[in-house]
Amino acid sequence: MNISNTKLDIEFVRAQFPAFNEPLCKDWCFAENAGGSYVPIHVIKKLNEFMRSTKVQPYAEYPMSKIAGENMDKATDFFAEMINATNKEIIIGGSTSINLYVLSNALKYSIKPGDEVIVTNQDHEANISPWRRLSEVGAIIKEWKINPHTAELEIEDLESLLNNKTKIVAVTHCSNIVGSVNDLKKISELVHKKNAIIIGDGVSYAPHGFPDVKDLGVDFYTFSLYKTFGPHLALLYGKEDILKKLPNQNHQFLDGSYPYTINPGGPNHEELVSLIGIYEYMIDLYSHHFDNENKSTRKKINKINDLISAHEEEIANPILELIHNKENLRLIGKNKIVNKNRAPTISFTSMNKSSKEISNFLVSEKIATRNDNFYAWRCLKALGIDTDDGLIRLSLTHYNSNEDTNLVINALKKI
Ligand SMILES: Cc1ncc(COP(=O)(O)O)c(C=O)c1O
Repeated sequence: MNISNTKLDIEFVRAQFPAFNEPLCKDWCFAENAGGSYVPIHVIKKLNEFMRSTKVQPYAEYPMSKIAGENMDKATDFFAEMINATNKEIIIGGSTSINLYVLSNALKYSIKPGDEVIVTNQDHEANISPWRRLSEVGAIIKEWKINPHTAELEIEDLESLLNNKTKIVAVTHCSNIVGSVNDLKKISELVHKKNAIIIGDGVSYAPHGFPDVKDLGVDFYTFSLYKTFGPHLALLYGKEDILKKLPNQNHQFLDGSYPYTINPGGPNHEELVSLIGIYEYMIDLYSHHFDNENKSTRKKINKINDLISAHEEEIANPILELIHNKENLRLIGKNKIVNKNRAPTISFTSMNKSSKEISNFLVSEKIATRNDNFYAWRCLKALGIDTDDGLIRLSLTHYNSNEDTNLVINALKKI
């Protein structure tokens, strides 16, 4: 069906996700999407098909194996198209934490004592610890700190940290706590002026719109596929020119066959194939809302991104406004989404109740949320928030509805 009105058809969207009809999940507002999202039926079907008929060692000549291998390649190709990369630039691993650790291990051979590495205190620890560990080979670690009043990273502060000794800058595209979208394109330009490498963490960004990595200009970019409507895997993009030069961390005879040389082994085959389902879901979303013109995958993704952002803005802004205006609640980050400047990842604390108490109350109101530090404990420390009790995070995504927003608002009003 093509509809002329380009508002996201939320009924169509929710119908693609079987979870919303499961007795266990029905009637809940699912607000823990920054933790992990549900999967559309397309992903489940691909996983099922693989397990039923092609769960054999891939890339042999008998049909079950041949098809298994072809589908693994297809999944990689589709994701490359979606983020505007080539299939030689895509690495699929078990998680973003693993991918970044493996990457830092590969990059450590290019670090000399006295070289400088910049990390932030806004990031999830996955994009901090692997780079801080480069001090073991003599790197000097510098911290790009958030403004403790706004929780934002300010570009001028990065400029004062960058110099000719800078070799690596690791920064989040969007914080899993603050929600602000950092200007990664501008940051990449600044970092490249110093001939350093920029690593962007897109884990909290990609679920709200697959990025164009070439447009961002990043050298490496990573996101967790289990938060972008897929199985528990993660994608690492790396510029081919750099990947080519990294040491082989896989079997020795594989020398030169990047990108398979970055991880010391291959990905989970069945889960990799199920990623085709994410691509199919995105294309179905496009065809449902727009004329099915002969557009490139990336152009289709751009249109879907706009559709999703407009919907997320609509469902998140009333919640942001309420928390911002409510006495005794402290909202972290911007109080309004304007022009994709923020993800619908809404974190807050209470002045007179623990985060645990508030989170338990919300759960009793059928809002699936939690309190935690979400492994961004440096960010919480910088904001003066107890890292054990943490903060309450309501993280929405495009399949959340206006009914979800109303449920959250009514519950928050009772606090
Ligand atoms: C912003 C951000 N970066 C990195 C990670 C780590 O991802 P993974 O669980 O795939 O290691 C997370 C996980 O929550 C995250 O939110």
